[in-house]
Amino acid sequence: MSDPTVVLLPGDGVGPEVAREAKLVLELVAPDVAVEERLIGAAAIRATGDPLPEETLAACREATAVLKGPVGDPEFDAADVRPEQGLLRLRAALDAYANLRPAGDVLIVRELVGGLYFGASGVRDDGTVFDTCEYHPDQVRRVVRRAFALSRGHVTSVDKANVLETSRMWRRVVNEVASQFPDVRVEHMLVDNAAMQLATNTEQFDTIVTENMFGDILSDLAAAVTGGIGLAPSASLADGGPGIFEPVHGSAPDIAGRGIANPTAMLRSTALLLDHGLGRPEDAQALMRAVDAALESAPTFDLGGTASTAEFGAAVREQLALTRA
Ligand code: NAD
Ligand code: IPM
Ligand code: MN
Repeated sequence: MSDPTVVLLPGDGVGPEVAREAKLVLELVAPDVAVEERLIGAAAIRATGDPLPEETLAACREATAVLKGPVGDPEFDAADVRPEQGLLRLRAALDAYANLRPAGDVLIVRELVGGLYFGASGVRDDGTVFDTCEYHPDQVRRVVRRAFALSRGHVTSVDKANVLETSRMWRRVVNEVASQFPDVRVEHMLVDNAAMQLATNTEQFDTIVTENMFGDILSDLAAAVTGGIGLAPSASLADGGPGIFEPVHGSAPDIAGRGIANPTAMLRSTALLLDHGLGRPEDAQALMRAVDAALESAPTFDLGGTASTAEFGAAVREQLALTRA
């Protein structure tokens, strides 16, 4: 087998700032892994006109795993070609359908390549604008299976079955998969209630499985109630091909360029990459412990501390060097 390769996509805003720390940590923890940087998002539009240049996509397809910073820049919010399109195309091209978003003790498994994000959309002659939510049962089945396999005995499936046709099909598929996992307790919850329950009684949840848009919204909420958006990582997994590892948060234009972003989400995404992408769970655990120690010793501004992005990264590497010496 050839040496593992990680494609690093720094992205926009705080992306390059947190990606720098991830790269330094990877060099320390996995010195045998080749790290290749490529452009995505606004940075790629500026350089090539395309948020996902062909060359970037080709490198990602060839990679063992993709480590990605957030994309997005207010400059392109009203443009026809937008940074976020590059991310959506990358997720679809790699078929990275199972988006794991752990927050505290809750794991959200978000379907990532279907639903409203990828259904038909457009403008009718009369000016009506539409986006459609579409799912095939097979798309639901594969992500629900992942959620059951990952759960610690309790799956909460979140939908809007009191309104949506897609949600009623989602429920049927969840019940069918549940019958194959007799040891897992399954519960169905409507998404509005799920938001309220997450905010007020977070501990009741083990694994939440839900469709693309609901998972997007609930994962920011879950991050907020379990310590903050700067802490939440994600892993987007396919069947076989490279996964994409990235923070849940965005490019944070309000603090970009100041060197104060919390790199925890990016570093925890690096840990998920070590585990799910490279099959190195022990290195992943060592990194997770080092990040936890740095959160104690060198908290960043969003957590009420004073450490810069670089100081936090240095604290993580110091901790890693101590425990691996
Ligand atoms: P955001 O997550 O970028 O920022 C929301 C708030 O959280 C801001 O106040 C920001 O300063 C803070 N924050 C975020 N990450 C932080 C960190 N690491 N440390 C400290 N504070 C942090 O959400 P937004 O403002 O709605 O989006 C900004 C841009 O990011 C948009 O263009 C959006 O499309 C994009 N975005 C990209 C991704 C991605 O690439 N996966 C994810 C979410 C949003
Ligand atoms: C996320 C982001 C993306 C999403 C955007 C930037 C397309 O919010 O990864 O959570 O909605 O999936
Ligand atoms: Mn989001």
